[in-house]
Amino acid sequence: MTPDSRKPSLHLVRRFLGFLTAKPLTPAEQSAIASMLDPPIAQAFFAQRSEDQRHAFDVRERVGGHEHLYQAALLHDIGKTGPALGALSRSFATIWSRLGLRATGRWNDYLSHGEIGAEQLEALGADRLAVAFARNHPGSPPPGVDAESWHLLEQADVA
Ligand SMILES: [Fe+2]
Ligand SMILES: [Fe+2]
Repeated sequence: MTPDSRKPSLHLVRRFLGFLTAKPLTPAEQSAIASMLDPPIAQAFFAQRSEDQRHAFDVRERVGGHEHLYQAALLHDIGKTGPALGALSRSFATIWSRLGLRATGRWNDYLSHGEIGAEQLEALGADRLAVAFARNHPGSPPPGVDAESWHLLEQADVA
């Protein structure tokens, strides 16, 4: 097994542990987020389960002072809100799809969270980068999206 072929599994384990150990946002962190987003978009952020809020908060922290990346960082996974899967179900759904098996129902919605989230963000009037990142992560930037911004977001998402 090459280090590269181990990478996705290690990432899956890290994500699983990160989900289990995620601490809810503190009131100070919540008000910092509320001050960064318009109310309808903030509502979508806070509709996420607390583990996903923590992940999004951490991604935002890792992009540093690049304010134009904040919406994308904070909202890229809002498509996970609807399927409402826990840590184990998320892992099983991911493994299921990596085995090339067809998922249905909430598992399919979870695996399609990028597209679902992008549609929600479009409806909320989120910025173009936030919509594009939700739809295309993890992956290459679509045409017309700044590659440097994309790289920063991708690095922050998988860190
Ligand atoms: Fe995601
Ligand atoms: Fe993410």
